[in-house]
Amino acid sequence: MAYADKRYEQLADQLQTLIRDQVYPVGSRLPGVRKLGEQHGVSVATAVSACRELEQRGVLEARPRSGFFVCPPPARRDAPSLPSAGRRPRPVTGQERVLRMVQAVNDPSMVNLGAAVADPDFQPVAQMERAFRTVLREQRRRCVGYEFPPGAPELRAGLARRLAALRCPVSPEEILITNSCQESVAIALRMLTKPGDTVAIESPTYYGLLQVIESLGLNALEIPTDPIRGLSLEALSLALERWPVAACVVVPNFSNPLGTCMPDERKQALLRLLGEYDVPLVEDDIYGDLPLNGPRPLPIKAWDRDGRVFYCASCSKTLSAGMRVGWLAPGLDLERAQYLQFINTVSVATPSQLALAHFLDHGHYDRYLRRVRDQHARAVARMTDRVTGLFPAETRVSRPAGGFVLWLELPGRVNTTELAERALDAGVSFAPGPLFSASGKFDHCLRLNCAVRWDNRVERALARLAALL
Ligand SMILES: Cc1ncc(COP(=O)(O)O)c(C=O)c1O
Repeated sequence: MAYADKRYEQLADQLQTLIRDQVYPVGSRLPGVRKLGEQHGVSVATAVSACRELEQRGVLEARPRSGFFVCPPPARRDAPSLPSAGRRPRPVTGQERVLRMVQAVNDPSMVNLGAAVADPDFQPVAQMERAFRTVLREQRRRCVGYEFPPGAPELRAGLARRLAALRCPVSPEEILITNSCQESVAIALRMLTKPGDTVAIESPTYYGLLQVIESLGLNALEIPTDPIRGLSLEALSLALERWPVAACVVVPNFSNPLGTCMPDERKQALLRLLGEYDVPLVEDDIYGDLPLNGPRPLPIKAWDRDGRVFYCASCSKTLSAGMRVGWLAPGLDLERAQYLQFINTVSVATPSQLALAHFLDHGHYDRYLRRVRDQHARAVARMTDRVTGLFPAETRVSRPAGGFVLWLELPGRVNTTELAERALDAGVSFAPGPLFSASGKFDHCLRLNCAVRWDNRVERALARLAALL
C-alpha cells in the first residue's frame, strides 16, 4: 500500500474522498461511528480514530452529542484563477530547464515532486513482469528482432478494441505504435505544420508539448484554460479569427497541469469550431484512463467524422513509463505517419510492444485501473491536505478531476523558478510555473506530483518547501 499503512488513516482518506465528491456535502453529518464501522468493515475504535484524524485535518468538526460534521473548505483551497490570453503567437525557448528537474527522478537522494512520474507502488509491477516473462519465453525469436511501423498487429488490435469501447471508430490498420505520447504528438505536428507555423495550445500546458513546438520551429499561441471547463472556446474563436492557426493541441481529459476534464458538450463545440476554420486537432489523451472518480470520459476522437482528430496516447501514466510505448491514430495519411515514425526511431522496442499486447489481453487492465484510481484519489487528497496545512494561507490549490498532479497558485511575489533552484539544493524537486507557458507566465505557480510513496521523507520535503516560501 502506497499510503496510510494504518487502517484508520486509510479510512480517513476514503472518507475525505467521499466528502470531496460531495457524497457528504459541507454541513452534513457523517453517519455515526458504529454505522461507519459497519459500512467500511472496521471496528468502532478505528472509525473514531479516522474521524479524529479528519478533525485534525480540518475536514470534520465534532459537535458534542451530535456527531461529526463536514466543515467548509478553507478559503485557500480556491481553485486557481483563469489565466489571461497570450497576445500573439510566439516562438518557444528555454525549455532545457526541464531536463534538470526530471533528472531528479533518477536521483535517489532527491524527493521527486516535480516530474509527473508515478512511483512504482502505483503500477502493476508484478503483472508487467509476468507479461514480459511470457513474451520473452514464448516469442523469444521475435523479441530480438525489429517490429517495424506500424507496430505489432496484436497490440494494434488490442488498442483498437479499447478505442471501440470509447466509441472511437478506429481500426487496427489506422493505429501506429510509437515510443511515447510525446513522439505521437511530435509526429502529428510534423505532419500538420511547417517551421514558422502557429499552433494553438492550452495555457497552462504540459511542458513536453512546448519542447516539441520548440524543436519543430513553430510558434505557440496560448489560449487560456479554465480549471473547470477547459480550453476557452471564446478565446480560441477570437484567436482563429485573427491568426492563421495550423493545428490545435489539447489534453481534454485531465489536462496537465490543471487536471481539467472538458465537458462533452464543449468537446463537441471545440470540434465544430475547428471545423469552421478547417484546423486539425491533436488530441493528447494520456490521462484519459485516470479519472479520480466517475466514468472514463470519452475522447474528442469519439465525435470525429472527417479525420480531423489526431489521437495520441501512451501507457506512461498508467502501466509503465519505462516501457516506452505510445500510439497515434492520425486522422489521415497513415503512411506518412509511419514513415516519420520510422525515420525517428526505426522501431519501437519489440518486447515492450508484445508485453503490452499481452497485458491488455490477460492483465486485468480494468481491475488495475479501478485500484489505481482509488490510490490516486487518496494521493491527491493527502497532498491537498498537507499543502493546505503547510503553505501560506492564500495559496490556491487546483481540484483535479483526474491524473495525479496539483497546480498551486502562491500568494505574493514568489518567483517559483528561483525557488525551484533552492529546493533542488535542499533535495526536493517541483515543477515551477513558467515551464508551463511559452511566454513565461505563471511565475507564482508550481506543480506537484502526488503519486509518491508517502513517508517521512515526503513529509519533511514538503515542510522544507514551505519553509523556503
Ligand atoms: C499531457 C502529457 N502528454 C505527454 C506526456 C509524455 O508522455 P510519454 O512519456 O508517453 O511521452 C506527458 C508526461 O508527463 C503528459 O503529461
